[in-house]
Amino acid sequence: MTLKTYYNPVEVLFGINSLLNISEIVQKYTKSIKNAKILIVTDKNLLNILGISEKILELLEKDGFIVEIFEKEGYFSSIKIIDNGANLVRNKNYNLIIGIGGGSAMDTAKCMAILGNNPGSINLYLKEGKTLENYGIPLIEVPTTSGTGSEVTRWATVWDLGEKQKKYSLSDLKMYAKGAIIDPTLVKSLPKKMSVITGLDAFSQAIEAYWSKNHNKISDIYALQAIPIIFSNLQEIFKDPSNIDIRKNLAFGSLLSGLAFSNTKTTAVHSVSYPITLHFNVPHGLACALTLSQFLLFNSEKTENNIDEAPDRLRKISDAIGADSPDNAAQMITNLMTTLNLPTKLHEVGIDKKGIELIIAEGFTPDRVKHNPRKLTEDKLRKILHTLL
Ligand SMILES: [Fe+2]
Repeated sequence: MTLKTYYNPVEVLFGINSLLNISEIVQKYTKSIKNAKILIVTDKNLLNILGISEKILELLEKDGFIVEIFEKEGYFSSIKIIDNGANLVRNKNYNLIIGIGGGSAMDTAKCMAILGNNPGSINLYLKEGKTLENYGIPLIEVPTTSGTGSEVTRWATVWDLGEKQKKYSLSDLKMYAKGAIIDPTLVKSLPKKMSVITGLDAFSQAIEAYWSKNHNKISDIYALQAIPIIFSNLQEIFKDPSNIDIRKNLAFGSLLSGLAFSNTKTTAVHSVSYPITLHFNVPHGLACALTLSQFLLFNSEKTENNIDEAPDRLRKISDAIGADSPDNAAQMITNLMTTLNLPTKLHEVGIDKKGIELIIAEGFTPDRVKHNPRKLTEDKLRKILHTLL
């Protein structure tokens, strides 16, 4: 048996009002620096929307930290935003960066932190194979959605929004944050639709971590715990979005999912989701959920192009959500999306046969697809997507 290691160095602070301890964590990672300079990287106006702007500044400034805020505009963590942010970080010599927001704000913060101590544009690292020689500026991530898992992963999604639009991933062991503060009160005011869509991202990540060729015994434990927690609490949050206990459960499920796929990466579902998001403006979690049930069926088949253990692992995934077979599990996922008032067919999000060809042309991210248990070909992907049309 090949020895597989599990590695995750992020210090996790989880719980209601855990954000109130932010100053302590910041102090820990800037301890010898007097009046350390902190940069908060966040989505535009998010701190005010959450009502934490003054609170967080007060907490940090009363302990002598000098705090500045970098507000990121738009949905994507783009090359342009990251390069501008990296130049700011290099010029101002910040001692620590705090990323607060959803995946794109945390990914932007992660890239700014690593580029703060590594020269040049992010393009060099994404497209020209330049190595990240140095560790970044210490980073603390604070998620405001329960979904992405970026707070505990070593990579960041980066979007080239230039002429040749494309999704990249910058990944390196040096990119892990020092700490993650997961406070369910920050998710409390997240609109219901956003809550379930980001939760579906976590759900997909947990399932993909479990069926990934790259799984290990520890990622399995996190993934199999995450799957039922997220599945049941997604239905609950839809009925009662202000219930803090359900928010807490979902945040915990999302953390477990993040810890699982931080070591396995994702598979075909995520790979195919990126062109769906980029070209059809479908939010990331929904873009994953749209094909999840069909990939569940695809990966559960016993064929010569599937790894031997896959059918058994797919049965365990089905068990975890209370289904008696992968067929039943696929139907339950589709039913869940209908209950959550989400589309389940591609035409509902504006994708036609021509759109499917675009997705096929761009949906094979090598780093993701190679970990799918069953080999995916263009023809097989076409068949899957046509079933969903
Ligand atoms: Fe994701």
